[in-house]
Amino acid sequence: MLLRADARTNGDTSAVAARMDAQLRRGHQREGSNAPPIIPHRDSPLGWVAPVPRVKSRPRPRLMLVVGARPNFIKIAPIMRALRAAAAFDLMLVHTGQHYDAAMNDVFFAELALPDPDIHLGVGSGSHAVQTGAVMQAIEPVIERTAPDLVVVVGDVNSTLAAALVAVKKGVAIAHVEAGLRSFDRAMPEEINRVLTDQISDLLFTTEQGAERNLAREGIAAAKVFFVGNVMIDSLLHALPRAVPPERLFERHADGVFSRVPDGGFAAATLHRPSNVDDPGALRALLSTFDAIAERLPLVLPLHPRTARAIEQHGLTPLLDRPDLLTVPPQPYLVMLGLMRGARFVLTDSGGIQEETTGLGVPCLTLRANTERPITVSHGTNRVVGTEPGAILAAVEEILATGGKRGRIPPLWDGRAAERIAGHLAQHFKLV
Ligand code: UD1
Repeated sequence: MLLRADARTNGDTSAVAARMDAQLRRGHQREGSNAPPIIPHRDSPLGWVAPVPRVKSRPRPRLMLVVGARPNFIKIAPIMRALRAAAAFDLMLVHTGQHYDAAMNDVFFAELALPDPDIHLGVGSGSHAVQTGAVMQAIEPVIERTAPDLVVVVGDVNSTLAAALVAVKKGVAIAHVEAGLRSFDRAMPEEINRVLTDQISDLLFTTEQGAERNLAREGIAAAKVFFVGNVMIDSLLHALPRAVPPERLFERHADGVFSRVPDGGFAAATLHRPSNVDDPGALRALLSTFDAIAERLPLVLPLHPRTARAIEQHGLTPLLDRPDLLTVPPQPYLVMLGLMRGARFVLTDSGGIQEETTGLGVPCLTLRANTERPITVSHGTNRVVGTEPGAILAAVEEILATGGKRGRIPPLWDGRAAERIAGHLAQHFKLV
């Protein structure tokens, strides 16, 4: 997809700022009237922007919450809910547009009951530099005009770092949710995003105690760090009663082996890390391993767009063409929860899925050399098996023979992390 914000990609920030100004002015003029909010067309260079009035005296701290990619939506939903319930802040949701497909975006907003973003930057895809730069250019005038008291960023995607970099240079405080996780692998783009975002954050909310040690080692003052638990698990526990049984997915996409839930059960797999999917050799080896696993237990593979594109580009589609391997498009959150809960085990390179399987008590094999979420291994159901086919297959056999790791729920993964975050933010602004 082309970047929608063409003015940003060629560096013309003044044009963007002028347009933003005009939109905000229009919104401001309408304040107090009964007219509906102005929401410019989605295809406008600025994306669609709801009016954000410039307010002179502000009784309540204004928080800007930034999301960009699929896992961000899951993390921000319980935070929005807790902050709304606290009724102590003016909230502004900014969507960078890093993920934009209906299946990667719209369906998550609906399922998680997230409000429409107040501001959509529409940056779309691109190289790391293009994408990070586009978010920075687009969000700078928004931060200037709306003057938030604090910017909340979550996770480790490019949008997280980009928003934080602009905020810190504008002198706006930053809260980073999911701080301190480290894979110690600087070849991983997310590791760079994590380290840099933490360095410039004012409040750092952690999901596991090891994160505090990582931050201390990097010289971050303990007074800024708060162990609150895991908002990903808040979302999981909140949504689990509505999880869609796997039968529904199979009904829609399959016949043969998957026309009903296979007798011996099934496994699920996801793959999207650049290190696993961008290199054709690595991708071929993993897909061949999935073939071998499917021979032992039917396997469901929801395909991230990046992975689907790589499979097609490298002519690997025939590897997926077998009745006991079901490939499906990216699935809605509630379907993924049902699929993971119903699976005998999950293979993944996703960080969020390592946590969700621990939350669900389902064995997980992580197809990476490392994890930034060691609590899922020490407490949870996760095993980091790497990407060597023999090691993966041996781990699968062990799960089939023994049922796999049962794990236990890590400290504070109790569904109340977002409430704790809201409490700390209230304290930060001396509201309590
Ligand atoms: C991003 C995050 C990653 C996170 C993942 C969750 C970074 C560096 N990476 O990776 O940490 O685990 O999101 O999904 O921020 N695409 C579409 N439609 C979309 C979005 C993406 O087709 O809605 C395709 C595009 O071809 C794009 C590619 O996927 O180039 C990669 O998208 P991008 O957001 O750059 O990175 P992800 O691999 O999704």
